[in-house]
Amino acid sequence: MTFRRTEHHRSRRVLATLLFLVAPAAAAEPDGFSASELERIASHGPWPTEWLRDAGNRVSANPAAIHLGQRLFFEPRLSANGRVACATCHDPARGFQDGRTTARGLVDGTRNTPGLLNVRHQRWFGWDGGHDNLWSASLRPILDRGEMSGSAARTATLLRGSATLACQYRKAFGKAPAATDPELLVNVAKAIAAWQETLVSPPTPFDRFRDALERKDLAAAALYPAAAQRGLKIFLGRGQCSTCHAGPLFTNGEFGDIGVPFFIKPTGVDPGRQGGVKRLLASPYNLLGTHNDDATRRNATGTQYLRPEHRNFGEFKVPTLRNLTLTAPYMHNGTLATLRDVVRHYSELDEDRLHADGERILKPLNLSEAESADLVAFLESLSPDAAPPAPAKPPAVAACR
Ligand code: HEC
Ligand code: HEC
Repeated sequence: MTFRRTEHHRSRRVLATLLFLVAPAAAAEPDGFSASELERIASHGPWPTEWLRDAGNRVSANPAAIHLGQRLFFEPRLSANGRVACATCHDPARGFQDGRTTARGLVDGTRNTPGLLNVRHQRWFGWDGGHDNLWSASLRPILDRGEMSGSAARTATLLRGSATLACQYRKAFGKAPAATDPELLVNVAKAIAAWQETLVSPPTPFDRFRDALERKDLAAAALYPAAAQRGLKIFLGRGQCSTCHAGPLFTNGEFGDIGVPFFIKPTGVDPGRQGGVKRLLASPYNLLGTHNDDATRRNATGTQYLRPEHRNFGEFKVPTLRNLTLTAPYMHNGTLATLRDVVRHYSELDEDRLHADGERILKPLNLSEAESADLVAFLESLSPDAAPPAPAKPPAVAACR
Protein backbone atom coordinates (compact mmCIF):
# COMPACT_ATOMS: atom_id res chain seq x y z
CA MET A 1 0.00 0.00 0.00
CA THR A 2 2.64 2.48 1.17
CA PHE A 3 4.88 1.37 -1.65
CA ARG A 4 2.18 1.92 -4.20
CA ARG A 5 1.36 5.37 -2.91
CA THR A 6 5.04 6.35 -3.13
CA GLU A 7 5.16 5.06 -6.71
CA HIS A 8 2.06 7.06 -7.48
CA HIS A 9 3.57 10.23 -6.02
CA ARG A 10 6.78 9.72 -7.87
CA SER A 11 5.06 9.27 -11.21
CA ARG A 12 2.97 12.39 -10.51
CA ARG A 13 6.16 14.27 -9.82
CA VAL A 14 7.69 13.02 -13.09
CA LEU A 15 4.56 13.99 -14.96
CA ALA A 16 4.59 17.46 -13.39
CA THR A 17 8.24 17.90 -14.39
CA LEU A 18 7.46 16.74 -17.90
CA LEU A 19 4.54 19.13 -18.14
CA PHE A 20 6.77 21.91 -16.89
CA LEU A 21 9.27 21.12 -19.63
CA VAL A 22 6.71 20.66 -22.37
CA ALA A 23 4.17 23.32 -21.47
CA PRO A 24 6.30 26.43 -22.05
CA ALA A 25 7.24 25.28 -25.53
CA ALA A 26 3.62 24.60 -26.46
CA ALA A 27 1.88 27.48 -24.71
CA ALA A 28 4.45 30.22 -24.27
CA GLU A 29 4.21 31.82 -27.71
CA PRO A 30 0.64 33.22 -27.59
CA ASP A 31 1.52 35.50 -24.72
CA GLY A 32 4.96 35.95 -26.27
CA PHE A 33 3.35 38.54 -28.58
CA SER A 34 3.47 42.21 -27.63
CA ALA A 35 0.31 44.31 -27.31
CA SER A 36 0.96 45.96 -30.67
CA GLU A 37 1.56 42.56 -32.33
CA LEU A 38 -1.68 41.25 -30.84
CA GLU A 39 -3.49 44.26 -32.23
CA ARG A 40 -2.06 43.64 -35.69
CA ILE A 41 -2.90 39.93 -35.53
CA ALA A 42 -6.50 40.89 -34.70
CA SER A 43 -6.58 43.18 -37.76
CA HIS A 44 -6.17 40.15 -40.06
CA GLY A 45 -9.67 38.93 -39.17
CA PRO A 46 -12.32 37.96 -38.43
CA TRP A 47 -12.87 35.58 -41.32
CA PRO A 48 -15.07 35.46 -43.36
CA THR A 49 -15.09 39.22 -43.40
CA GLU A 50 -18.12 41.39 -44.02
CA TRP A 51 -19.32 41.79 -47.60
CA LEU A 52 -22.03 43.97 -49.10
CA ARG A 53 -23.63 43.12 -52.43
CA ASP A 54 -22.17 44.94 -55.44
CA ALA A 55 -24.32 48.00 -56.05
CA GLY A 56 -22.86 48.28 -59.57
CA ASN A 57 -24.24 44.87 -60.58
CA ARG A 58 -28.03 44.66 -60.72
CA VAL A 59 -27.97 40.87 -60.27
CA SER A 60 -25.39 40.71 -57.47
CA ALA A 61 -26.69 38.15 -54.91
CA ASN A 62 -29.64 37.28 -57.17
CA PRO A 63 -30.20 33.47 -56.94
CA ALA A 64 -31.33 33.04 -60.57
CA ALA A 65 -28.29 34.96 -61.84
CA ILE A 66 -25.96 32.91 -59.60
CA HIS A 67 -27.41 29.77 -61.19
CA LEU A 68 -26.93 31.08 -64.72
CA GLY A 69 -23.45 32.39 -63.90
CA GLN A 70 -22.31 29.02 -62.59
CA ARG A 71 -23.41 27.29 -65.81
CA LEU A 72 -21.71 29.88 -67.97
CA PHE A 73 -18.45 29.70 -66.00
CA PHE A 74 -18.10 26.08 -67.15
CA GLU A 75 -19.41 26.78 -70.69
CA PRO A 76 -16.78 26.33 -73.46
CA ARG A 77 -19.21 27.44 -76.18
CA LEU A 78 -18.59 31.05 -75.14
CA SER A 79 -15.19 30.71 -76.86
CA ALA A 80 -14.40 30.89 -80.59
CA ASN A 81 -13.25 27.25 -80.89
CA GLY A 82 -15.83 25.91 -78.41
CA ARG A 83 -13.09 24.50 -76.17
CA VAL A 84 -12.09 27.18 -73.68
CA ALA A 85 -14.27 27.93 -70.64
CA CYS A 86 -13.49 30.17 -67.67
CA ALA A 87 -12.90 26.94 -65.73
CA THR A 88 -10.20 25.85 -68.23
CA CYS A 89 -7.87 28.34 -66.55
CA HIS A 90 -9.76 28.85 -63.28
CA ASP A 91 -9.93 25.24 -62.05
CA PRO A 92 -12.12 24.80 -58.93
CA ALA A 93 -9.80 22.05 -57.63
CA ARG A 94 -6.86 24.51 -57.54
CA GLY A 95 -8.51 27.50 -55.90
CA PHE A 96 -9.69 28.50 -59.39
CA GLN A 97 -6.16 28.69 -60.79
CA ASP A 98 -4.44 26.50 -63.40
CA GLY A 99 -1.03 25.63 -61.91
CA ARG A 100 0.69 27.03 -65.02
CA THR A 101 3.41 29.69 -65.02
CA THR A 102 1.40 31.79 -67.47
CA ALA A 103 -2.11 31.16 -68.75
CA ARG A 104 -2.89 29.33 -71.96
CA GLY A 105 -6.17 29.98 -73.75
CA LEU A 106 -6.36 30.15 -77.51
CA VAL A 107 -2.76 31.35 -77.39
CA ASP A 108 -0.10 31.57 -74.67
CA GLY A 109 -0.50 34.53 -72.33
CA THR A 110 2.13 36.46 -70.39
CA ARG A 111 0.55 36.53 -66.95
CA ASN A 112 -0.15 34.00 -64.22
CA THR A 113 -3.80 33.08 -63.68
CA PRO A 114 -4.98 34.40 -60.30
CA GLY A 115 -7.18 32.22 -58.08
CA LEU A 116 -10.78 33.42 -57.70
CA LEU A 117 -11.59 32.47 -54.09
CA ASN A 118 -12.69 35.60 -52.17
CA VAL A 119 -12.53 37.62 -55.40
CA ARG A 120 -15.65 39.54 -54.31
CA HIS A 121 -13.50 41.46 -51.83
CA GLN A 122 -11.05 42.78 -54.43
CA ARG A 123 -11.07 46.46 -55.22
CA TRP A 124 -9.15 46.35 -58.54
CA PHE A 125 -9.11 43.32 -60.83
CA GLY A 126 -6.26 41.85 -62.88
CA TRP A 127 -2.58 42.03 -61.91
CA ASP A 128 -2.49 45.57 -63.32
CA GLY A 129 -5.90 46.61 -61.96
CA GLY A 130 -7.18 47.07 -65.51
CA HIS A 131 -10.75 46.66 -64.18
CA ASP A 132 -12.60 48.41 -61.39
CA ASN A 133 -15.39 45.88 -61.04
CA LEU A 134 -15.88 42.11 -61.09
CA TRP A 135 -18.27 41.94 -64.04
CA SER A 136 -16.01 43.83 -66.43
CA ALA A 137 -13.08 41.61 -65.33
CA SER A 138 -15.38 38.68 -66.26
CA LEU A 139 -16.28 40.16 -69.62
CA ARG A 140 -12.66 40.76 -70.66
CA PRO A 141 -11.68 37.07 -71.10
CA ILE A 142 -14.76 36.35 -73.24
CA LEU A 143 -13.65 38.96 -75.79
CA ASP A 144 -9.86 38.65 -75.35
CA ARG A 145 -8.36 37.29 -78.58
CA GLY A 146 -5.81 35.19 -76.72
CA GLU A 147 -8.17 33.76 -74.09
CA MET A 148 -11.65 32.89 -75.45
CA SER A 149 -12.03 35.20 -78.47
CA GLY A 150 -15.81 35.23 -78.15
CA SER A 151 -18.23 38.00 -79.06
CA ALA A 152 -21.58 39.53 -78.15
CA ALA A 153 -23.16 37.82 -81.21
CA ARG A 154 -21.78 34.38 -80.27
CA THR A 155 -22.98 34.84 -76.69
CA ALA A 156 -26.47 35.88 -77.84
CA THR A 157 -26.73 32.88 -80.19
CA LEU A 158 -25.69 30.53 -77.38
CA LEU A 159 -28.25 31.93 -74.95
CA ARG A 160 -31.11 31.99 -77.44
CA GLY A 161 -30.23 28.52 -78.73
CA SER A 162 -30.57 26.80 -75.35
CA ALA A 163 -34.02 26.65 -73.77
CA THR A 164 -32.51 26.25 -70.30
CA LEU A 165 -30.04 29.13 -70.61
CA ALA A 166 -32.70 31.38 -72.16
CA CYS A 167 -35.08 30.54 -69.32
CA GLN A 168 -32.40 31.15 -66.67
CA TYR A 169 -31.53 34.46 -68.33
CA ARG A 170 -35.18 35.50 -68.27
CA LYS A 171 -35.49 34.61 -64.58
CA ALA A 172 -32.36 36.62 -63.75
CA PHE A 173 -33.01 39.72 -65.88
CA GLY A 174 -36.78 39.71 -66.36
CA LYS A 175 -36.59 39.56 -70.17
CA ALA A 176 -35.62 37.14 -72.95
CA PRO A 177 -32.09 37.30 -74.43
CA ALA A 178 -32.68 39.44 -77.55
CA ALA A 179 -30.59 39.07 -80.71
CA THR A 180 -29.35 42.62 -80.80
CA ASP A 181 -29.37 43.48 -77.14
CA PRO A 182 -26.22 45.54 -76.45
CA GLU A 183 -26.71 44.76 -72.78
CA LEU A 184 -26.63 41.00 -73.27
CA LEU A 185 -22.88 40.50 -73.02
CA VAL A 186 -22.70 42.79 -70.00
CA ASN A 187 -25.58 40.92 -68.37
CA VAL A 188 -23.91 37.57 -68.97
CA ALA A 189 -20.75 38.93 -67.32
CA LYS A 190 -22.84 40.26 -64.43
CA ALA A 191 -24.37 36.79 -63.92
CA ILE A 192 -20.93 35.14 -63.98
CA ALA A 193 -19.77 37.79 -61.48
CA ALA A 194 -22.74 36.99 -59.22
CA TRP A 195 -21.65 33.35 -59.13
CA GLN A 196 -18.02 34.23 -58.42
CA GLU A 197 -19.19 36.31 -55.47
CA THR A 198 -20.22 33.06 -53.79
CA LEU A 199 -16.66 31.67 -53.86
CA VAL A 200 -15.45 32.20 -50.29
CA SER A 201 -12.75 30.09 -48.66
CA PRO A 202 -13.27 28.59 -45.18
CA PRO A 203 -11.40 29.65 -42.01
CA THR A 204 -7.78 28.54 -41.68
CA PRO A 205 -5.46 27.50 -38.81
CA PHE A 206 -4.36 31.16 -38.63
CA ASP A 207 -7.99 32.31 -38.26
CA ARG A 208 -8.54 29.87 -35.38
CA PHE A 209 -5.38 31.18 -33.69
CA ARG A 210 -6.45 34.79 -34.17
CA ASP A 211 -9.93 34.12 -32.78
CA ALA A 212 -8.50 32.16 -29.82
CA LEU A 213 -6.19 35.08 -28.93
CA GLU A 214 -9.11 37.46 -29.12
CA ARG A 215 -11.05 35.24 -26.68
CA LYS A 216 -7.89 34.95 -24.54
CA ASP A 217 -8.21 31.16 -24.89
CA LEU A 218 -4.52 30.28 -24.61
CA ALA A 219 -5.16 26.53 -24.70
CA ALA A 220 -6.84 26.83 -28.11
CA ALA A 221 -4.17 29.29 -29.29
CA ALA A 222 -1.44 26.80 -28.36
CA LEU A 223 -2.78 24.43 -31.03
CA TYR A 224 -1.31 26.74 -33.67
CA PRO A 225 2.11 25.30 -34.53
CA ALA A 226 5.10 27.05 -32.93
CA ALA A 227 6.84 27.38 -36.34
CA ALA A 228 3.84 29.28 -37.77
CA GLN A 229 3.84 31.52 -34.66
CA ARG A 230 7.51 32.35 -35.16
CA GLY A 231 6.86 32.97 -38.87
CA LEU A 232 3.98 35.28 -37.97
CA LYS A 233 6.36 37.32 -35.81
CA ILE A 234 8.69 37.79 -38.79
CA PHE A 235 5.68 38.64 -41.01
CA LEU A 236 4.54 41.41 -38.65
CA GLY A 237 7.98 42.59 -37.56
CA ARG A 238 11.26 42.36 -39.42
CA GLY A 239 9.59 41.35 -42.69
CA GLN A 240 7.14 44.30 -42.68
CA CYS A 241 5.00 42.04 -44.84
CA SER A 242 1.75 43.21 -43.27
CA THR A 243 2.39 46.78 -44.47
CA CYS A 244 1.23 45.64 -47.92
CA HIS A 245 -0.37 42.27 -47.12
CA ALA A 246 -2.82 43.85 -44.65
CA GLY A 247 -6.26 43.03 -43.24
CA PRO A 248 -8.38 39.87 -43.41
CA LEU A 249 -7.43 39.31 -47.07
CA PHE A 250 -3.74 39.95 -46.50
CA THR A 251 -3.70 42.71 -49.13
CA ASN A 252 -4.12 46.47 -48.93
CA GLY A 253 -5.76 46.25 -52.38
CA GLU A 254 -3.11 48.48 -53.93
CA PHE A 255 -0.09 48.06 -56.19
CA GLY A 256 3.58 47.68 -55.47
CA ASP A 257 6.98 46.85 -56.85
CA ILE A 258 8.89 44.12 -55.10
CA GLY A 259 11.56 43.63 -57.76
CA VAL A 260 9.93 40.85 -59.79
CA PRO A 261 11.34 41.35 -63.32
CA PHE A 262 8.82 42.83 -65.74
CA PHE A 263 10.46 41.82 -69.00
CA ILE A 264 8.53 39.53 -71.31
CA LYS A 265 10.52 37.25 -73.58
CA PRO A 266 11.87 38.00 -76.11
CA THR A 267 11.73 41.81 -76.14
CA GLY A 268 8.58 43.10 -74.44
CA VAL A 269 7.92 44.72 -71.10
CA ASP A 270 4.85 44.49 -68.90
CA PRO A 271 4.11 48.06 -67.76
CA GLY A 272 1.91 46.72 -64.92
CA ARG A 273 -0.27 49.25 -63.14
CA GLN A 274 0.63 52.09 -65.51
CA GLY A 275 -0.85 50.16 -68.46
CA GLY A 276 -3.73 48.99 -66.26
CA VAL A 277 -4.81 52.55 -65.45
CA LYS A 278 -4.79 53.49 -69.14
CA ARG A 279 -6.78 50.38 -70.05
CA LEU A 280 -9.27 51.00 -67.27
CA LEU A 281 -9.87 54.65 -68.17
CA ALA A 282 -10.39 53.72 -71.85
CA SER A 283 -12.82 50.88 -71.10
CA PRO A 284 -16.54 51.32 -71.87
CA TYR A 285 -17.17 48.85 -69.03
CA ASN A 286 -15.63 50.86 -66.19
CA LEU A 287 -17.73 52.30 -63.37
CA LEU A 288 -17.82 55.75 -65.00
CA GLY A 289 -19.70 54.22 -67.95
CA THR A 290 -23.38 53.53 -68.57
CA HIS A 291 -23.32 49.88 -67.45
CA ASN A 292 -22.74 50.74 -63.79
CA ASP A 293 -26.05 49.98 -62.04
CA ASP A 294 -25.27 52.15 -59.01
CA ALA A 295 -27.38 55.25 -59.61
CA THR A 296 -25.54 57.18 -56.89
CA ARG A 297 -22.17 56.58 -58.68
CA ARG A 298 -20.59 56.43 -55.24
CA ASN A 299 -18.71 53.28 -56.32
CA ALA A 300 -16.95 55.23 -59.12
CA THR A 301 -15.07 57.73 -56.97
CA GLY A 302 -11.85 55.69 -56.96
CA THR A 303 -11.84 55.52 -60.76
CA GLN A 304 -12.80 59.15 -61.29
CA TYR A 305 -9.57 60.57 -59.90
CA LEU A 306 -7.26 57.93 -61.31
CA ARG A 307 -4.47 59.04 -63.69
CA PRO A 308 -1.64 56.96 -65.16
CA GLU A 309 1.55 58.02 -63.45
CA HIS A 310 5.15 57.25 -64.17
CA ARG A 311 5.73 55.70 -60.76
CA ASN A 312 3.08 53.05 -61.55
CA PHE A 313 5.32 51.54 -64.21
CA GLY A 314 6.18 47.97 -63.26
CA GLU A 315 3.85 47.90 -60.25
CA PHE A 316 1.54 44.92 -59.79
CA LYS A 317 -1.39 44.24 -57.51
CA VAL A 318 -0.58 43.14 -53.98
CA PRO A 319 -2.13 39.65 -54.07
CA THR A 320 -4.13 38.07 -51.27
CA LEU A 321 -2.16 35.49 -49.29
CA ARG A 322 -5.14 33.25 -48.54
CA ASN A 323 -5.17 29.80 -50.21
CA LEU A 324 -1.54 29.98 -51.39
CA THR A 325 -1.11 26.22 -51.00
CA LEU A 326 -3.66 25.82 -53.82
CA THR A 327 -2.37 28.48 -56.20
CA ALA A 328 1.33 27.89 -57.03
CA PRO A 329 3.22 29.15 -58.97
CA TYR A 330 3.45 32.73 -57.69
CA MET A 331 3.79 36.36 -58.85
CA HIS A 332 2.23 38.14 -61.86
CA ASN A 333 4.38 36.12 -64.24
CA GLY A 334 4.36 32.87 -62.26
CA THR A 335 8.16 32.81 -62.06
CA LEU A 336 8.41 31.62 -58.44
CA ALA A 337 7.44 27.95 -58.16
CA THR A 338 7.16 27.49 -54.38
CA LEU A 339 6.58 29.49 -51.21
CA ARG A 340 10.18 28.71 -50.31
CA ASP A 341 11.20 30.55 -53.51
CA VAL A 342 8.99 33.52 -52.57
CA VAL A 343 10.58 33.74 -49.12
CA ARG A 344 14.04 33.49 -50.70
CA HIS A 345 13.07 36.36 -53.03
CA TYR A 346 12.31 38.61 -50.06
CA SER A 347 15.26 37.33 -48.05
CA GLU A 348 17.84 37.92 -50.78
CA LEU A 349 16.08 40.90 -52.33
CA ASP A 350 18.07 42.70 -54.99
CA GLU A 351 17.44 46.37 -54.16
CA ASP A 352 18.71 47.47 -57.57
CA ARG A 353 15.73 45.67 -59.06
CA LEU A 354 13.21 47.89 -57.27
CA HIS A 355 12.35 50.01 -60.26
CA ALA A 356 9.57 52.19 -58.89
CA ASP A 357 9.90 54.90 -56.27
CA GLY A 358 8.60 54.57 -52.80
CA GLU A 359 9.15 50.88 -52.01
CA ARG A 360 11.58 51.86 -49.31
CA ILE A 361 10.00 49.38 -46.92
CA LEU A 362 11.70 46.46 -48.61
CA LYS A 363 15.20 45.47 -47.54
CA PRO A 364 16.87 42.08 -47.97
CA LEU A 365 15.85 40.17 -44.84
CA ASN A 366 18.79 37.75 -44.78
CA LEU A 367 16.74 35.08 -43.05
CA SER A 368 18.39 31.92 -41.74
CA GLU A 369 17.22 28.53 -43.04
CA ALA A 370 15.18 28.03 -39.87
CA GLU A 371 13.57 31.49 -40.12
CA SER A 372 12.70 30.91 -43.78
CA ALA A 373 11.04 27.62 -42.87
CA ASP A 374 9.06 29.43 -40.13
CA LEU A 375 7.84 32.09 -42.56
CA VAL A 376 6.78 29.38 -45.03
CA ALA A 377 4.93 27.57 -42.20
CA PHE A 378 3.08 30.80 -41.44
CA LEU A 379 2.15 31.39 -45.11
CA GLU A 380 0.87 27.80 -45.34
CA SER A 381 -1.34 28.38 -42.30
CA LEU A 382 -3.33 30.94 -44.34
CA SER A 383 -4.84 28.09 -46.38
CA PRO A 384 -7.63 25.80 -45.21
CA ASP A 385 -6.17 22.62 -43.70
CA ALA A 386 -8.73 20.35 -45.34
CA ALA A 387 -9.15 19.47 -49.02
CA PRO A 388 -9.89 22.33 -51.45
CA PRO A 389 -13.29 23.78 -50.64
CA ALA A 390 -16.03 22.65 -52.98
CA PRO A 391 -17.61 25.61 -54.76
CA ALA A 392 -20.65 26.84 -52.89
CA LYS A 393 -23.88 25.39 -54.23
CA PRO A 394 -26.02 28.01 -55.90
CA PRO A 395 -29.23 28.64 -53.97
CA ALA A 396 -32.29 26.81 -55.26
CA VAL A 397 -34.43 28.57 -57.85
CA ALA A 398 -37.57 27.34 -59.49
CA ALA A 399 -36.62 24.90 -62.26
CA CYS A 400 -36.53 26.34 -65.76
CA ARG A 401 -39.04 24.78 -68.07
C1 HEC B 1 -6.72 31.55 -70.85
C2 HEC B 1 -6.92 31.43 -69.43
C3 HEC B 1 -8.08 32.20 -68.83
C4 HEC B 1 -9.42 32.09 -69.14
C5 HEC B 1 -10.06 31.20 -70.19
C6 HEC B 1 -10.11 32.96 -68.23
N1 HEC B 1 -9.23 33.59 -67.40
FE1 HEC B 1 -9.67 34.86 -65.91
N2 HEC B 1 -7.75 35.35 -65.72
C7 HEC B 1 -6.70 34.77 -66.44
C8 HEC B 1 -5.49 35.57 -66.26
C9 HEC B 1 -4.13 35.29 -66.86
C10 HEC B 1 -5.85 36.66 -65.44
C11 HEC B 1 -4.96 37.85 -65.03
C12 HEC B 1 -5.19 38.90 -66.11
C13 HEC B 1 -4.47 40.20 -65.92
O1 HEC B 1 -3.67 40.35 -65.01
O2 HEC B 1 -4.74 41.12 -66.69
C14 HEC B 1 -7.27 36.48 -65.11
C15 HEC B 1 -7.98 37.32 -64.26
C16 HEC B 1 -9.30 37.12 -63.92
C17 HEC B 1 -10.02 37.89 -62.92
C18 HEC B 1 -9.43 38.96 -62.01
C19 HEC B 1 -9.02 38.29 -60.71
C20 HEC B 1 -8.22 39.16 -59.77
O3 HEC B 1 -8.01 38.73 -58.63
O4 HEC B 1 -7.78 40.24 -60.14
C21 HEC B 1 -11.31 37.42 -62.92
C22 HEC B 1 -12.44 37.88 -62.03
C23 HEC B 1 -11.39 36.40 -63.94
N3 HEC B 1 -10.15 36.23 -64.51
C24 HEC B 1 -12.55 35.71 -64.25
C25 HEC B 1 -12.66 34.95 -65.43
C26 HEC B 1 -13.93 34.55 -66.01
C27 HEC B 1 -15.28 34.84 -65.43
C28 HEC B 1 -13.63 33.85 -67.15
C29 HEC B 1 -14.58 33.29 -68.18
C30 HEC B 1 -15.52 34.21 -68.76
C31 HEC B 1 -12.18 33.80 -67.24
N4 HEC B 1 -11.63 34.50 -66.19
C32 HEC B 1 -11.49 33.13 -68.23
C33 HEC B 1 -6.79 33.62 -67.18
C34 HEC B 1 -7.97 33.17 -67.75
C1 HEC C 1 5.79 46.84 -50.70
C2 HEC C 1 4.65 45.99 -50.53
C3 HEC C 1 4.93 44.53 -50.18
C4 HEC C 1 5.59 44.04 -49.09
C5 HEC C 1 6.24 44.81 -47.94
C6 HEC C 1 5.54 42.59 -49.19
N1 HEC C 1 4.86 42.23 -50.33
FE1 HEC C 1 4.48 40.33 -50.94
N2 HEC C 1 3.77 41.05 -52.70
C7 HEC C 1 3.65 42.39 -53.04
C8 HEC C 1 3.35 42.52 -54.45
C9 HEC C 1 3.12 43.80 -55.21
C10 HEC C 1 3.32 41.20 -54.97
C11 HEC C 1 3.08 40.80 -56.44
C12 HEC C 1 4.34 41.13 -57.23
C13 HEC C 1 4.33 40.65 -58.67
O1 HEC C 1 3.57 39.77 -59.01
O2 HEC C 1 5.14 41.18 -59.44
C14 HEC C 1 3.57 40.30 -53.83
C15 HEC C 1 3.55 38.92 -53.91
C16 HEC C 1 3.68 38.06 -52.82
C17 HEC C 1 3.44 36.65 -52.84
C18 HEC C 1 2.95 35.83 -54.05
C19 HEC C 1 1.45 35.60 -53.99
C20 HEC C 1 0.86 35.07 -55.26
O3 HEC C 1 -0.30 34.63 -55.21
O4 HEC C 1 1.49 35.12 -56.32
C21 HEC C 1 3.68 36.17 -51.58
C22 HEC C 1 3.54 34.74 -51.09
C23 HEC C 1 4.12 37.30 -50.78
N3 HEC C 1 4.09 38.44 -51.56
C24 HEC C 1 4.50 37.25 -49.45
C25 HEC C 1 5.13 38.30 -48.80
C26 HEC C 1 5.90 38.17 -47.57
C27 HEC C 1 6.12 36.88 -46.81
C28 HEC C 1 6.37 39.42 -47.27
C29 HEC C 1 7.30 39.82 -46.14
C30 HEC C 1 8.60 39.18 -46.16
C31 HEC C 1 5.88 40.33 -48.29
N4 HEC C 1 5.16 39.62 -49.20
C32 HEC C 1 6.11 41.70 -48.29
C33 HEC C 1 3.80 43.45 -52.17
C34 HEC C 1 4.49 43.38 -50.97
